[in-house]
Amino acid sequence: MIDELPRVEIRPMTAADVDRVLEIAASLREAPHWARAVYEAALDARAHVRRIALVAEEQGAVAGFAVASVMAPEAELETIAVEARLQRRGIARRLFAELAGELRRAGVRDIVLEVRASNMRAQTLYKGLGFAEAGLRTRYYVDPVEDALVLRLELG
Ligand SMILES: CC(C)(COP(=O)(O)OP(=O)(O)OC[C@H]1O[C@@H](n2cnc3c(N)ncnc32)[C@H](O)[C@@H]1OP(=O)(O)O)[C@@H](O)C(=O)NCCC(=O)NCCS
Repeated sequence: MIDELPRVEIRPMTAADVDRVLEIAASLREAPHWARAVYEAALDARAHVRRIALVAEEQGAVAGFAVASVMAPEAELETIAVEARLQRRGIARRLFAELAGELRRAGVRDIVLEVRASNMRAQTLYKGLGFAEAGLRTRYYVDPVEDALVLRLELG
């Protein structure tokens, strides 16, 4: 790990963050490339599925984000990404810690996620956070076609 960043603030994502979030996602091959409307729906408190969307701000600029859907007692971590320049500084870990706290408060006991079988950076992050393998979805992803590992974490 390079030195952790002291001035990272984790806060809820707002509509004003979506441009920057799209920019970060587009710059990362492994990040899901959602349409703007999907992020906007994630911010809609009246949506059918509730989502918690957080950003990490470093020196006034959004550097990363995470989105989870909440179906208590289960939640799905749908995306987590950090801009390349600021990776490996503990930002994803900070985002996840905050997200897990919010999910617990929402009555969540288990978090599940899918990750590309080739995405070793993300798998190392998730396993370090305590996720364990819970299944395999064969040829789940397209562009390129690839298996998904299903990981699960029981919130203590
Ligand atoms: C996966 C990702 C979110 C990690 O973000 P990050 O802010 O760099 O992660 P952190 O600095 O909090 O790292 C936490 C731990 O994850 C693991 N990790 C993160 N990046 C790693 C890398 N390049 N190589 C090996 N392990 C890595 C390490 O265990 C690390 O702990 P350590 O630095 O103390 O060894 C980031 O690499 C990313 O945005 N990747 C592209 C998008 C993506 O794949 N998202 C997940 C699928 S949606």
